[in-house]
Amino acid sequence: MPKYYITTPIYYPSAKLHIGHTYCTVATDAMARYKRMQGYDVMFLTGTDEHGQKIEERAAIAGVPPKAFVDDIVEGVGGVYDLWKLMNISYDRYIRTTDDYHVESIQKIFRALYDKGVIYKSVYAGKYCTPCESFWTESQLTDGNCPDCGRPVEGAEEEAYFFRLSDYTERILTLYEDHPEFLLPVSRKNEMVNNFLKPGLSDLCVSRTSFTWGVPVDFDPGHVVYVWIDALSNYITALGYRNEKYADFDRYWPADVHFVGKEIVRFHAIIWPAMLMALDLPLPKQVFGHGWLLFDGGKMSKSKGNVIDPYILANRYGVDALRYFLLREFPFGSDGNFSNEALITRINTDLANDLGNLVSRTVAMAEKYFDGILPEMQETGPEDDELLAMASVLRTVYAEKMEAFAFQDALVEVFKVISRANKYIDETTPWVLAKDEAKRPRLARVLYNLLETIRLTTVLLLPFTPESCEKAWVQIGADAAICSWESAATFGLLPSAVTVQKGEGLFPRIDLKKELEALDSE
Ligand code: MSP
Repeated sequence: MPKYYITTPIYYPSAKLHIGHTYCTVATDAMARYKRMQGYDVMFLTGTDEHGQKIEERAAIAGVPPKAFVDDIVEGVGGVYDLWKLMNISYDRYIRTTDDYHVESIQKIFRALYDKGVIYKSVYAGKYCTPCESFWTESQLTDGNCPDCGRPVEGAEEEAYFFRLSDYTERILTLYEDHPEFLLPVSRKNEMVNNFLKPGLSDLCVSRTSFTWGVPVDFDPGHVVYVWIDALSNYITALGYRNEKYADFDRYWPADVHFVGKEIVRFHAIIWPAMLMALDLPLPKQVFGHGWLLFDGGKMSKSKGNVIDPYILANRYGVDALRYFLLREFPFGSDGNFSNEALITRINTDLANDLGNLVSRTVAMAEKYFDGILPEMQETGPEDDELLAMASVLRTVYAEKMEAFAFQDALVEVFKVISRANKYIDETTPWVLAKDEAKRPRLARVLYNLLETIRLTTVLLLPFTPESCEKAWVQIGADAAICSWESAATFGLLPSAVTVQKGEGLFPRIDLKKELEALDSE
């Protein structure tokens, strides 16, 4: 069975997660489910990046030890575990960088790099952005502030270990040239080349002495490993690299893709490959830098005070609706503006009107006209051709988009077929056919074609809206065996005497005006 290893960034548990964090995890989940459906042996890794100055500071403010602070955000009620459960995130492994096996591996990795001479000791004098945990030189600052987040930086001067990143400029450029697919979208690559590689990379400070919340450098007390070296390594330590906890490094490494937000592409597409080269390990096949969800035009963040709570949204509108919206509304590689109005409108148009109605109308008609069991039906006719042709090629078109991580386009293709099916109802007018006894075989055919279209489209929607698809299958009388990836290539697999079963509406329509008023008054 071929393997597929996909990762999300591991989140900083310095505050509760917001909808922006949920975005990448939902995308990764959709991709993992898609690959599983195709028969891949998927390893979907996520986790939390629990060390660093920012966490130490937040814990001090909260008056608790750092480990207790992160434990609460990860394991506590309404924490990361709960959120991923709520959002139906099907991860295979969860890594916490405070786990003993990871700490052990980081110490071994650091020592190995030191022994190879790739890490050396010197003095760091420069600037540090604590919220981003990033080192900067004076010339990299924007108006004296962090070029990534715009917040003030602090001066830092301390004895430190350095990684010889400057030795890797050419090798990283060659990597991009030889493997144009390594870093996508292309705009991210241009940014890396122009902003960092062309000017030439500087050596990277990889240890700190001014705080203690990190992995200790075991051969030099007082130093803790720079949090990004610690964090990036999670992708291999979680497979058992230099630890005994897991033993599937050989099976899954190199990763097929790392999904990351655009501001951390630099770490994944420059520092990470350089580290792997230094360790003589294979490089990940791909890094995809997705865009940000913006709120009123700005990046969501707790410190900007405009956090959108995924719990509230999921509980109010449904998990599947929220998952669908995130991947349908915004192209994965670009930024997108989040608004409640856009969310509700999208739920109403696509999910309630198009998909929800198609299922409820079709099932209701099969019940009304045939007591739920389709009788002998007529052969297909020319009026059916367009719908059948679209449904039959859908899987191929969809797969092309999914392979390119073009989730929005994949969903657009599925909904084209769903809309076509709704139009087909208007064209074939089943309620007129029902009045004429002689037309009952034709009526059965029309309903069968609709049920089949629902089956095919909901199989392809499974990675996005898993629970609703399963509910739809129960309603249309499709058992799991014909709701697989293989069966999504063939029209006509439902048994001819299919029995439908009316259920609750999949996606209730929301009154936009009332809902926005209700949100405003809370
Ligand atoms: N801990 C690092 C990642 C280490 S990976 C080896 C980190 N954590 S984070 O919690 O700050 O961010 C995690 C991910 O969430 C990042 O990819 C980031 O881009 C993403 N997002 C945070 N806010 C976001 C939006 N508003 N929109 C989309 N993604 C955003 O970085």
